[in-house]
Amino acid sequence: MDGNLFPAWTSTVRDLLPLALGGGGLFVLVVVAFGFSPNTLSVGYSPDQPIPFSHKLHAGEMGMDCRYCHNTVELGAKAAVPPTETCMNCHDRIHTESPVLAPLRESAETGKPIEWNRVHDLPDYAYFNHSAHVTRGVGCVECHGRIDTMNEVRQEKKLSMGWCLDCHRNADDIIRPIDQVTNMTWETDDQAALAAALTAARGRELAPPTNCSGCHR
Ligand code: HEC
Ligand code: HEC
Ligand code: HEC
Ligand code: HEC
Ligand code: HEC
Repeated sequence: MDGNLFPAWTSTVRDLLPLALGGGGLFVLVVVAFGFSPNTLSVGYSPDQPIPFSHKLHAGEMGMDCRYCHNTVELGAKAAVPPTETCMNCHDRIHTESPVLAPLRESAETGKPIEWNRVHDLPDYAYFNHSAHVTRGVGCVECHGRIDTMNEVRQEKKLSMGWCLDCHRNADDIIRPIDQVTNMTWETDDQAALAAALTAARGRELAPPTNCSGCHR
């Protein structure tokens, strides 16, 4: 017990409330109606999973590209978590007797999907879209950290409004070539020159939304 009556996230709500009131009473109603999501802000959050799937093994040591499994990440708002069939492309031959893969084999037989537990989860009143980021050259590692070194996925960043806005105001500091978005170790020694070249190729400056309705639609 730390003696606090309210969890830490409620103080964030309190800090932002005057801002929200300035932005319009209707929005506050929407926020209250959907409820707050304390898990959003918990850096380190790492729920247990029905199968001990390791990104360190598959994406790190085996070098599989993120998009082999999260194949909608460039196309849509959501990055799909792969269905059982994707795993069975290999596991119908590899480790077929493994006890930790029993739920996978059962899912393949019954057609009932594995129920993975969500790690990252924004409240519904905040709009996020993977495609809009990944196809502009924002790397997975900027928001999810070194997933390729994690046995169990954990939340690396505080997914707060301030975090989104920080990058939206300085996006040229992190932008990279689009073909490097899933590369976890990519680096450049001249970010300013790269950003200028990418702006020229794109034909416009980056303009991520900083107005309320950009993210609260
Ligand atoms: C072999 C398939 C596979 C590959 C390759 C893979 N993932 Fe995953 N990923 C999964 C599965 C299954 C889950 C759900 C279970 C879990 O959270 O560990 C997941 C979960 C995640 C999550 C958490 C989702 C949530 O609930 O919030 C993130 C973030 C993620 N992956 C990012 C990546 C990145 C980045 C890469 C490339 C470096 C990658 N993944 C490569 C299969 C894969
Ligand atoms: C491209 C092939 C491939 C795909 C696709 C794949 N795996 Fe694997 N997986 C492997 C290999 C190879 C190993 C074994 C590595 C070793 O033992 O050295 C492994 C090992 C594992 C293990 C450890 C098994 C044990 O008994 O130690 C688990 C759990 C696992 N995979 C889960 C999954 C899940 C869940 C998916 C789908 C989201 C998946 N894998 C997709 C190739 C794959
Ligand atoms: C600009 C930040 C950002 C980038 C870049 C990013 N993600 Fe995410 N990701 C998020 C946020 C925020 C969520 C939670 C979304 C929600 O709750 O609606 C999330 C959720 C996920 C999930 C869970 C399913 C979902 O869509 O909610 C997976 C899987 C995932 N990301 C994989 C990836 C992969 C793979 C990449 C790179 C190809 C990537 N992400 C790039 C911020 C990012
Ligand atoms: C690491 C940098 C980074 C982070 C973190 C980030 N964004 Fe972005 N965001 C961008 C960039 C770059 C663009 C693309 C702007 C452009 O195309 O001009 C963008 C675009 C967007 C757009 C416009 C999408 C569209 O359809 O036009 C929305 C909405 C958005 N971001 C929401 C969010 C939210 C919500 C978060 C936090 C959960 C977030 N972003 C975190 C860099 C980031
Ligand atoms: C770049 C995206 C983005 C923009 C622009 C943005 N917000 Fe947010 N906002 C978020 C995200 C993401 C959350 C959820 C974070 C969380 O759970 O605390 C959030 C949460 C909130 C909350 C709930 C308070 C809380 O701490 O949970 C309020 C109120 C709010 N925003 C008001 C506003 C107002 C008013 C504006 C315009 C001045 C605005 N937002 C602009 C992304 C954004």
